[in-house]
Amino acid sequence: MTPVTATADLEHEKRLAAARSLEFVQDGMYLGLGSGSTATIMLQMLGQRVRQGLRVAGIPTSEASRRLARQAGIPLLGFDQVSQLDLTIDGADEVDANLDLIKGGGGALLREKIVASLSRRVVIITDSAKQVTRLGGFPLPIEVVRFAWQPVADRLRNLGAEIHLRLDSDGNPTLTDEDNYILDCDFGPIDDPAELDRTLNAMPGVMEHGLFVGLADVLVIGQHDASRVIERG
Ligand code: A5P
Repeated sequence: MTPVTATADLEHEKRLAAARSLEFVQDGMYLGLGSGSTATIMLQMLGQRVRQGLRVAGIPTSEASRRLARQAGIPLLGFDQVSQLDLTIDGADEVDANLDLIKGGGGALLREKIVASLSRRVVIITDSAKQVTRLGGFPLPIEVVRFAWQPVADRLRNLGAEIHLRLDSDGNPTLTDEDNYILDCDFGPIDDPAELDRTLNAMPGVMEHGLFVGLADVLVIGQHDASRVIERG
């Protein structure tokens, strides 16, 4: 049986992972700044390092991260200013043994994937609850163009997924930073993430999806009172 880890322990693990990930940051780096609760902790810690004299600048992966980074005093860059980043640090909703990921629980997957793809190195920070043997326990977030969400949902249903249009607290469709909708797609256990990645990439109306295959280089995972670094391959 999988041991149940209490929320407070998971928070502690997130802090451990976030702190350890900063060991990968060097003076002068251009960074990708992740989104989500673990990345938020990392941004606060990074801001502290910047106030102590670390010189870095970063592209945020969401509007929420942009606000957080600004509050933390981290200098920001735009996509028009750099074509390559040294390092991205971001969270994940699930990670398997190949360091393939499901991301997008917070809805920021489109910018997250672009930023990851522009990065020489991608470091993923998580608590121990995110490690899985097979991806798919967490429904895969798929960002779709608004006007055609129903036919896209039908095509995804035909692939075998159970589809839920993500709604906000008022019951309206959640809008992403790019004004798209999110379909949370339960495919069950995903046998071949690379194949599903290719299928979704080829589907018109899918703006981006939360399967990150072959993009993560390093996993920094908080486990109880320690952190562990796992490199891909
Ligand atoms: C944001 O859309 C996501 O991809 C996050 O990176 C992911 O949901 C992990 O978030 P937590 O660190 O809050 O679990």
